[in-house]
Amino acid sequence: MEISKCKSYKDLSNLVADVVEHILALPEPKLILPTGSTPIGLYKELVNRQLDWSTTTTFNLDEYIINPNHPQSYHSFMKKHLFDRINIYPNNCNFPNRNTQAYEDIISEVDLCILGIGSNGHIAFNEPGSSFDSVTRVVDLTEETIKDNSRFFPTIEDVPTQAITMGLKSIMSSKKIIIMANGKHKKNILEQAMYGDITEDIPASILQTHTNMEAFYCD
Ligand code: GLP
Repeated sequence: MEISKCKSYKDLSNLVADVVEHILALPEPKLILPTGSTPIGLYKELVNRQLDWSTTTTFNLDEYIINPNHPQSYHSFMKKHLFDRINIYPNNCNFPNRNTQAYEDIISEVDLCILGIGSNGHIAFNEPGSSFDSVTRVVDLTEETIKDNSRFFPTIEDVPTQAITMGLKSIMSSKKIIIMANGKHKKNILEQAMYGDITEDIPASILQTHTNMEAFYCD
């Protein structure tokens, strides 16, 4: 397992966009997509490339327990940064909802899953202590995650305390996984996840056991 060190954030975004472009050439591509600040450059690059998304199906990793029309919902994030700017069919864009079993049932044969990493090693909203066997479910967010994500909300009290997330087992069933990390503050946790013990205390460490996984990092 090696972490590919990219020259810049632009370079990181371009390298991951190259992989997505390759997957989009498949007849009916299926992608699992992340939110957060890290993938914004990737989505910008994908929009610029004017690719054909008409046969693509996407699954988002997670969503807050929040009105989907809220400006900080992940629905709104995806529309703003990607879905409203490409030729994907809105019906092909899936988000986890309270019917967690139904979501789990439609996630299959995913070609590529793209992940960010939280400062405590979470992926999607699988916080430390999440079972490696976890599937889509409602979760409580940790104080650290609420604090990290408060930068997107007017005050920390406005950050939802719960979310619906795809589980670690659901993520691991993807044929290929990419994890992206941007910034020195993510270096330690990414290295711990990729090179340290495989433990539920660092949910991203499960990725070490995937046979087709790549990690990209830039300072
Ligand atoms: C949120 C999301 C994660 C994301 C993480 C990191 O908690 N649920 O999927 O990986 O933030 O976000 P950022 O890229 O802004 O550091």
